[in-house]
Amino acid sequence: METSGRAALVTGASSGIGEAYAKRLAAEGYDLILVARRKDRLEKLSEELKASYGVEAQVLAADLTEESDLRKVEDRIVGSGDLEFIVNNAGFGTRGLFFETGVKEPDRMHRLHVLATVRLSHAALAGMVARGKGNLVNVSSVAAFGQSPGNAGYCATKAWMNSFTEGLCLDISAIRSPVKVQALCPGYTLTEFHDASEIGRDHVPESWWISAEDVVDASLRGLSRGDLFVVPGRRYKLYVFILKALPGFLIRPLALRFKGKYRR
Ligand SMILES: NC(=O)c1ccc[n+]([C@@H]2O[C@H](COP(=O)([O-])OP(=O)(O)OC[C@H]3O[C@@H](n4cnc5c(N)ncnc54)[C@H](OP(=O)(O)O)[C@@H]3O)[C@@H](O)[C@H]2O)c1
Repeated sequence: METSGRAALVTGASSGIGEAYAKRLAAEGYDLILVARRKDRLEKLSEELKASYGVEAQVLAADLTEESDLRKVEDRIVGSGDLEFIVNNAGFGTRGLFFETGVKEPDRMHRLHVLATVRLSHAALAGMVARGKGNLVNVSSVAAFGQSPGNAGYCATKAWMNSFTEGLCLDISAIRSPVKVQALCPGYTLTEFHDASEIGRDHVPESWWISAEDVVDASLRGLSRGDLFVVPGRRYKLYVFILKALPGFLIRPLALRFKGKYRR
C-alpha cells in the first residue's frame, strides 16, 4: 500500500482517548502505528482505519511496563523516518491507600506513566527536532494539579508528566524548533478507565463526564494554538484555576472531604 509519508504513533490505542485520537489522526491522513497490549482490539481498529480512511495502520502489541516490549516500540520510532505525531496516552488508575495495596500496581504505574513516557518521547523527539516538524502529546490529567486520598501515585505521575512536558517545551523553544509538545489534562472522560481500575463511575455526577472525542478535539485545537497545557471543558478549566489559586492548607481538607470513603 502507498503510504501518506507522515506517520503517527498512539499508545493505549485499543480503547478510550487513544482510540479516539487514532481515528482523528487517520481522518487527517496520518498512517498509524497502534500500540497497546490487546492485539485483537488493535487489529480490529487497524482494519477499520484502513477501510474508512485509506491509511496504513500497523499493529504493535506491547506491554509498555516490560523492558523488552518498550525497547521494541522505541526501535520502531527510531527506525521510522516520517514520524510526525506521537501520543503518549497509555495509562491506568488504581484503588486504595498506598500502604494498604501491594507495591506491584504503583510500580507498574510509574513504569508506564513515567518511564515509558521518557523513553518514547526521547526516541521520537530526536528525529522530529532534526526534521524540524512534529507534535508530541502526553496525556496527563486534571489530577496533576492536586492530590487526593487513594491516588498518591496517579496524581504524582501525572504532575510529573506536566513538569516533564513543560521542560521539553523549554528545550525545544531554546533552539527555536517548530516541534510542538502538549500536556493534555482531561477530567472525567467516558472510557474504559474506570472499569479497568474498578474505580466505578457512580461517585461522579453525569454532567461532569466528557467524551473521548471532545478531549481529542480540545487537544488538536490546543496544538494549532501552540498551547502547552490543555484542560478540555470550561468546568475543568475553572476547577484547575481554583486548585492552583488555593493554598495547600485549604485544598487538603477539601480533598479529604470529597474522598470521604478513605476517612476512618
Ligand atoms: N478516563 C478518564 O477519566 C481520564 C481522565 C484523565 C486522564 N486520563 C488518562 O487518559 C489516558 C487514557 O485513558 P482512557 O481514559 O482512554 O482509559 P482506557 O479506555 O482504559 O484506555 C487505556 C489504554 O491504555 C492501554 N494500556 C494500559 N496499560 C498498558 C500497558 N501496560 N502497556 C500498553 N498499553 C497499556 C490500554 O490498552 P491495553 O489494555 O490493551 O494494553 C488502553 O488502550 C490515561 O493515561 C489516563 O490516565 C483518563
